[in-house]
Amino acid sequence: MTKTPRAAITGIGVAVPEKVMTNFDFAKFLDTSDEWITKRTGIKQRHLVSDGETTVTLGTEAARNALADAKVKADQLDLIVCATVSPDMMFPASACFIQDALGAANVPAFDLSAACSGFLYALAVGSQFIETGKYKRILVIGSDALTRFADFTDRSSCILFGDAAGAVILEATDDIERGIRYTVMHTDGAGWDFIHVPAGGARTPASHETIDKKLHYVKMRGRDVYKFAVEKMQWLLGDCLKKCRLTVDDVDLVIPHQVNVRIIKSAASRSNFPMEKIYVNIDRYGNTSGASIPLALEEARRVGKIGPGSIVMMVAFGAGLTWAGTVARL
Ligand code: ACO
Repeated sequence: MTKTPRAAITGIGVAVPEKVMTNFDFAKFLDTSDEWITKRTGIKQRHLVSDGETTVTLGTEAARNALADAKVKADQLDLIVCATVSPDMMFPASACFIQDALGAANVPAFDLSAACSGFLYALAVGSQFIETGKYKRILVIGSDALTRFADFTDRSSCILFGDAAGAVILEATDDIERGIRYTVMHTDGAGWDFIHVPAGGARTPASHETIDKKLHYVKMRGRDVYKFAVEKMQWLLGDCLKKCRLTVDDVDLVIPHQVNVRIIKSAASRSNFPMEKIYVNIDRYGNTSGASIPLALEEARRVGKIGPGSIVMMVAFGAGLTWAGTVARL
């Protein structure tokens, strides 16, 4: 009997724009305060793209760093998947621009749209191609520049977002102790209007009216998203433990989508996970959508919270509505 290969994470890379915007910067032009934003979200600052920086440039930099970390060359890749909801253009896919910038000629490349769950959806897709034996080396990127779609006059949403990219290299391994053990994905399209950008698509093409009405910006039902996120994070933590036959003690670190520290704390306590096992860096980056999990994964490894052999549980939830979980052994 042939063994099913596992998809091991062999490299991680990130990219963060230099420009920083603090809560105090928002208070200069919005009716808000550092105290309100810190208390209600846990965010102190976020990084923003400047002219010339985009989802593609960040994604390319993160991809290069992940390739170097895995000691893999771009032309050795079999597939590139970029999770994003803030692509450089409606089409072609941002993954195509990244493929070209990396010099990975002819390697298939496509974008995947699942908002803040996008990176975990992309990990699920990538790991399937490896487990079926079709591909051996896959680049999975999460890159978003949502501040380009934030309405900087809407204090209830613009303070949440930051820009960044993160990437991992998945490689086939016969070591069944290693790699991605479990993935789960769900969608409830009935909740599409919880978080969305109303115009610019085929339903409502761009016009003077859509611009005047600010329909190209993120619209969000904050309280509904909050309730949805707590419920789904709690469900994902329970499901990942159960399906992998793990206890809270077995898990070295949970990396949740960095959505709001109150959401994370509330779901962790309902699931009996101590906060020492939950990685939080939202204070410095805000909600970076598809980049949030690989950004935290790289940082957790860099500061020594995880390393080879660690069992990591990643959970995410976002527009769609979508939610997803992944359990991996590094
Ligand atoms: N500064 C000061 N006051 C504010 C601000 C602000 N930045 N934002 C809202 N308020 C006010 C509101 O106007 C409201 O005032 P009112 O009582 O006079 O009407 C009051 O604060 C309370 O508002 P709530 O919406 O109840 O505040 P809440 O505690 O729910 O926090 C928040 C709002 C932070 C948006 C929270 O609901 C949240 O984090 N939700 C999750 C949203 C999210 O993360 N979305 C991103 C998903 S992105 C993706 O998937 C692509």
